[in-house]
Amino acid sequence: MNSNDQRGTPRRAFLQAFGTGIALGMLPWTARGAEGRLKVGIVGSGRIGGTLGEIWHKAGHAVMFSSRHLDDDRALAKRLGDRAQAGSPREAVVFGAVVLMAVPFGALPALGRQLGGVLKDKPVVDACNPFVHRDGEIASWARQKGAGLASAELLPGARIVRAFNAISYARLPEIAERKGGEPVGMPMAGDDAQAIALASRLVRDAGFEPVVVGGLAMGKYLIPGTPLAGEHTPEEIRKIAATLS
Ligand SMILES: NC(=O)c1ccc[n+]([C@@H]2O[C@H](COP(=O)([O-])OP(=O)(O)OC[C@H]3O[C@@H](n4cnc5c(N)ncnc54)[C@H](OP(=O)(O)O)[C@@H]3O)[C@@H](O)[C@H]2O)c1
Repeated sequence: MNSNDQRGTPRRAFLQAFGTGIALGMLPWTARGAEGRLKVGIVGSGRIGGTLGEIWHKAGHAVMFSSRHLDDDRALAKRLGDRAQAGSPREAVVFGAVVLMAVPFGALPALGRQLGGVLKDKPVVDACNPFVHRDGEIASWARQKGAGLASAELLPGARIVRAFNAISYARLPEIAERKGGEPVGMPMAGDDAQAIALASRLVRDAGFEPVVVGGLAMGKYLIPGTPLAGEHTPEEIRKIAATLS
């Protein structure tokens, strides 16, 4: 063995390990290329939006946080680092291949007007719940109409998928980090296949197994206080959903 071989051995070992890493898909998305990530626009960067944004960022996605307080969103993005940024709600919607809407339901009418055309055809994961004590009259209307159909009317043109509605934000980090054990299902409702596919990917990347319980009309059951709320296995969700439709 000559001295060149001795110098070359560690480098070859590194390159072999690097190649293996690529083959096994074990490297972070930056090494795997952009196809491994999604751009996620987040409107409402509070408990649910901020927590999910952080989880998806950790999973390798690029996120843009937005609210009415840009400085807070900038601070959050700065804490996460690369692939996280902040902008206005409009910028977040334009940025996202998929958008998470995570604001009090009462904010949706004004947001819908403010966002206007940029929502057209946008896949939107709708985590928002109507509560009369918090959101007022709009929540009574939304509960009568059904939460999913109501969001679709307030955010015209958006391809709405309801998800993450009835699980506490405080449980999300632990579920995202879980290794093994019984899967936790995420009930989802939507009418658009492509939007459901994108939302399902985000659901999986947050550690849940997606369970589509039906079209957007089923979104009325995806609020706290219904039998689908809380944590269930995918099988339990299917059984419960069958009793509802
Ligand atoms: N907390 C949970 O565990 C949980 C679970 C599932 C679903 N949800 C639902 O998710 C939604 C958000 O709940 P949350 O607990 O995350 O509330 P939160 O902690 O109060 O966060 C709400 C976020 O929305 C922003 N926001 C409020 N009005 C806005 C507007 N007009 N335009 C843009 N951004 C606005 C707030 O920021 P600024 O005030 O700075 O604008 C904040 O970043 C609610 O509909 C809730 O029912 C909550």
